[in-house]
Amino acid sequence: MIDKINDLLRRVEAFKPKVDNEIEEFRIRMLGRKGEMNDLFEEFKKVAPEMKKELGQKINALKNRINEKIAEMKAAAENAETTAQSQIDMTRPGSNDPIGSRHPISLVKNQIVEIFSRLGYTVAEGPEIEDDWHVFSALNFPPEHPARDMQDTFFISKNPDILLRTHTSSIQVRTMERQKPPIRVICPGRVFRNEAISYRAHCIFHQVEGLYIDENVSFADLKQSILYFAKEMFGEKARIRMRPSYFPFTEPSAEVDVSCNLCGGKGCNVCKHTGWLEIMGCGMVDPNVLEASGIDSKKYSGFAFGMGVERISMLKYGVKDLRLYFENDVRFLNQFDSVY
Ligand code: DAH
Repeated sequence: MIDKINDLLRRVEAFKPKVDNEIEEFRIRMLGRKGEMNDLFEEFKKVAPEMKKELGQKINALKNRINEKIAEMKAAAENAETTAQSQIDMTRPGSNDPIGSRHPISLVKNQIVEIFSRLGYTVAEGPEIEDDWHVFSALNFPPEHPARDMQDTFFISKNPDILLRTHTSSIQVRTMERQKPPIRVICPGRVFRNEAISYRAHCIFHQVEGLYIDENVSFADLKQSILYFAKEMFGEKARIRMRPSYFPFTEPSAEVDVSCNLCGGKGCNVCKHTGWLEIMGCGMVDPNVLEASGIDSKKYSGFAFGMGVERISMLKYGVKDLRLYFENDVRFLNQFDSVY
């Protein structure tokens, strides 16, 4: 029996827990009801009386040593934990995830949508990869119109009927095909033109299109809606003027100018000393366009308008180079952090 006691003592001394819960497993294996110490005590009952004193002392010493060993291991485990914790520097400043801000194009687009939504317009969208019908033909573009020219439009070479939309007016057509009047939609989206990139042109830019169709819609409704928009976007003092223009899809058509918000209309570099800034094209929807989409042009009339988001944003914030919107330099974008 003495050998058994010595063997167990050796194993107890050699034991090293790899993970903390091995300490508890060790305790159960040694001291538990079916543990090794219990076996020893059972055996101890059977030893000769003259051996009891010496063996009894040894067994008790072993039991004490096991308890001590468990206490030592627990203390070591706790110590390791606090050392790990003390390695965390609680005074170090927290890591800072920079919060992004909205891109000025999104800001202005959202503003435009919001202003028109107050007039009852809802948002409509359409595909960026379009067909000739929705971008040109249904909008009354004659076959030889220069906008169809390879210079302006990105066509898919395998199929010239497929192209990247050059304006958001295609969404007008899709809406009219889908929906019966009254129609009041605002259509924001990306458009593409085969243009050399410069401070005032880019091959990708953003437009917002508007379309209003109902019975008895007049040019006066158009003018008042645009005036409301101009005042909301550029301030209460904004005035507008309309100049006759031409678009295949509207008749009559007009170009809209807003009074220069930098000089108040007195004349400055930005408005090229005219006091006016061009902001959009508009007009009464051509009856051919209504009919092409299955709307009775004798019963219904409507107006449409379209504007460039980059342009509105440039005028509103005094940005002189369009390319800044695409370079995404944070020093530029940061300046719009707190806007709107
Ligand atoms: N689609 C025109 C363009 O890209 C803008 C435009 C002008 C839209 C007049 C309209 C409109 O709806 O009535 O230049």
